[in-house]
Amino acid sequence: MNVDEVLQAAEAEVAAAVNEAGLESVRIRQLGRQGALTKLLKGLGKLPKAQRPAAGTAINAAKTRLQRLIAKRQAALATEQLAAKMAAEAVDVTLPGRRPGAGGLHPVSQALARVEDIFVGAGYDVFSGLEVEDDYHNFEALNIPPAHPARAMHDTFYFADGSLLRTHTSPAQVHVMESQQPPIRVICPGRVYRRDSDLTHTPMFHQIEGLVIDRGISFAHLKGTITDFVRRFFERELRLRFRPSYFPFTEPSAEVDVQCVHCLGHGCRVCGRTGWLEILGCGLVHPRALAMSGIDPETWSGFAFGMGGDRLAMLLHEVNDIRLFFENDLRFLEQFN
Ligand code: PHE
Repeated sequence: MNVDEVLQAAEAEVAAAVNEAGLESVRIRQLGRQGALTKLLKGLGKLPKAQRPAAGTAINAAKTRLQRLIAKRQAALATEQLAAKMAAEAVDVTLPGRRPGAGGLHPVSQALARVEDIFVGAGYDVFSGLEVEDDYHNFEALNIPPAHPARAMHDTFYFADGSLLRTHTSPAQVHVMESQQPPIRVICPGRVYRRDSDLTHTPMFHQIEGLVIDRGISFAHLKGTITDFVRRFFERELRLRFRPSYFPFTEPSAEVDVQCVHCLGHGCRVCGRTGWLEILGCGLVHPRALAMSGIDPETWSGFAFGMGGDRLAMLLHEVNDIRLFFENDLRFLEQFN
């Protein structure tokens, strides 16, 4: 092969090299100690003397040219490799970041907190009471002696030792009255338990008890308190209805209905076409209940109420199935954050 042929073949190899290692082997094959161009140089001595200078010049020119080509190709390969690496590691800084999901308060907890805020703003204390109670606080001290028919309404969960899961927040009233003298203004939010499970009942639900004891407390104070509370809680004017009712520990007693938040009293599926929804039971604390817990009914009188926390949350958010609150479906719960 003459210089031109060697150079042509070498140029093709340089162009075909796809990485730096490949390029290096081309360099060795052409310019190394056993390389094609090197061999041509070594063969100069065999040429007739007159041809040597021209041939030498041509081979050296070819060598220089090839060295430059290799250097150029090497730079190109390095740039290409860097570009490929950058493309592989590319980060799109314009993409929105991934936020860690933040939890939120359960809608029922939110409703309880909302009730608390309203009453705390009116000067009430908060006392949560106990979820595991004894028969005395859950029933007897509330004027519900053994065998009283009111016990049948409560479907109680009992423990082997006779203690029980409170069936309402009213035992918290008893603890408050036992431990302090009037004036008393307290609300007691918390979980309560009954052996009930159907469309509108869950075995665990929430109540908020209210208790006010002072001199000269009358039913008018109770009515005013509930009316004001409903206005603040729902932030709109809803009509209220006090229906005579019976609880062993209050006299007189009432149940309170609010105008249906869905149909505003016209009658719909949610309110069973009545236009009204029950939200609480209440009454003036029975003198016997006061006396049993050490408060003199001759000096003091008071009112108490117990409302359904889950009920209030349902009405506030117009949720029509109570079970949604306990299924822990994030698609449902996230709507309240
Ligand atoms: N504890 C009663 C219930 O769970 C509600 C209530 C509370 C009624 C306070 C009157 C006074 O049904």
